[in-house]
Amino acid sequence: MPLRLHINVDHVATLRNARGTVYPDPVEAARICMEAGADGITAHLREDRRHITDRDIERLRATLETTLNMEMAATAEMVAIACRMKPDVVTLVPERREERTTEGGLDVVGGGREMADRVAALRSAGIKVSLFIAADLAQIDASVAAGAQQIELHTGEYANAPPAELRRQIALLAKGATLAHERKLEVAAGHGLTQENVGALVAIPEVVELNIGHAVIADAIFLSLAGAVRAMQDAILRGGLTGVTVRGG
Ligand code: PXP
Repeated sequence: MPLRLHINVDHVATLRNARGTVYPDPVEAARICMEAGADGITAHLREDRRHITDRDIERLRATLETTLNMEMAATAEMVAIACRMKPDVVTLVPERREERTTEGGLDVVGGGREMADRVAALRSAGIKVSLFIAADLAQIDASVAAGAQQIELHTGEYANAPPAELRRQIALLAKGATLAHERKLEVAAGHGLTQENVGALVAIPEVVELNIGHAVIADAIFLSLAGAVRAMQDAILRGGLTGVTVRGG
């Protein structure tokens, strides 16, 4: 596998929280992703805790032998949590409460000294720091100045672009990847990536990591919905209490 593929398990927690049950468990999802060949797990601890919880991060940290990439806002509260939980990587993202998902890149230029201090605090706890930004030279330079080791290019505009715009969007991402690589930053990419649109990113040689959530969890439903129906039919046929299990932890 030429690229690192990190699977974002936030949506598993969204589904769990929608019913207030303990399942589906994002930690169990992470285990299955790793067994299937993922290179790491990404989870976003949002300030409003709408999906992933502090306990999920703790359990992911305790069980994952490979990379845990924790996405979070660049706030003092989150930095303190990360320094305690010790994910391998923190990806700093912009966060607005009213948004459905991370919209737009981080303003590292506007973040100034405070952003650099947050990065320094994370790095001194031994955590690699990645900044989720648009493919923009000023933001790339500011990421270097802030002390980040990696950037993650926001691929949302590419993912949402009409067909006539795709080439231009890919060229912008490729240019950003080259500029970042020249400045010794590692380059990741993510947001809105699907089986259909991922190929063009793979063709950008500087991109070494992809973070993908929504499409993988959505595909998982249809790749195994028939199996889930059959499993339920079997449980009905078996009857009795023998099938009772406590799911997740
Ligand atoms: N990378 C970052 C920094 C994100 O915030 C997200 C969304 O949580 C993703 C990647 C994954 O995006 P998607 O769920 O659209 O694949």
